[in-house]
Amino acid sequence: MRLIVTKDYAAMSRCAARMVAEALASHPAANIAMPTGETPIGFYRELAALHRLGAFDASHLRVFQLDEYLGVAPDDPRAFAGWIARVFLDPLGISPAQVVRLQGEASDLYAACQQYDAAVAAAGGFDIVVLGLGANGHIAFNEPPADRDSPTRVVRLSDETRASNARYWGEQMHVPTHAVTCGMANILAARVKLLLVAGEGKRDILRRVVDVPAIADVPASLLAASDGVTIIAAEAAWPRSVPTIAARSSSSLSSRLECGDH
Ligand code: PGA
Repeated sequence: MRLIVTKDYAAMSRCAARMVAEALASHPAANIAMPTGETPIGFYRELAALHRLGAFDASHLRVFQLDEYLGVAPDDPRAFAGWIARVFLDPLGISPAQVVRLQGEASDLYAACQQYDAAVAAAGGFDIVVLGLGANGHIAFNEPPADRDSPTRVVRLSDETRASNARYWGEQMHVPTHAVTCGMANILAARVKLLLVAGEGKRDILRRVVDVPAIADVPASLLAASDGVTIIAAEAAWPRSVPTIAARSSSSLSSRLECGDH
């Protein structure tokens, strides 16, 4: 696990965008999976800016959707499909033909999940996956507990996740109770994995991600224990009170410079 602690949210966003742009420049036909949520907004803005500057070509990328609400039409503005299109695909000129959707509206959800996993396998797995961290330790919608070899599947959303997503739905009672998520198996097998973490509110869960043995009750801790993972945390999210973490935090200063944040 590589840890990068940046001085603030803007630096976290720039750092992640530079790393992804660099990876895409050397692998223009990469299979990528990208997150929704508040955390990656700045990252997407920076990535689009780098794309406009010609840092990489997005026309050959294959994009896999990470999660979707159940029973929400893809053209519903609250569907993740639309969110990703507005924030990531459209600014980079990525066409719908380049996207493998998770079909939360499918009548046979089991078959839709199997088709998704088959598409990931046929593509040779994910090259790059970028993730946010849920307040309960989820990644994508892999709610705890999540087995490391879990397939793409329907999940019941926890009350905590529904409360946190109520901001998009007006009230928690309107947030769908279920979702479909890319499974842990695909995510953990990705060659490059970035976990973005920002905000004081994520301190406790980030401590559990990096400072306890990997357990299914904290799905992101399974990610942290896997190969090829980099956690980029804005300093406010960093759990400084934990001594072992503080030591690792100072050793990440070189990584901070690596990301160009002086
Ligand atoms: P957030 O969501 O970036 O809006 O905090 C993260 C998540 O739940 O995955």
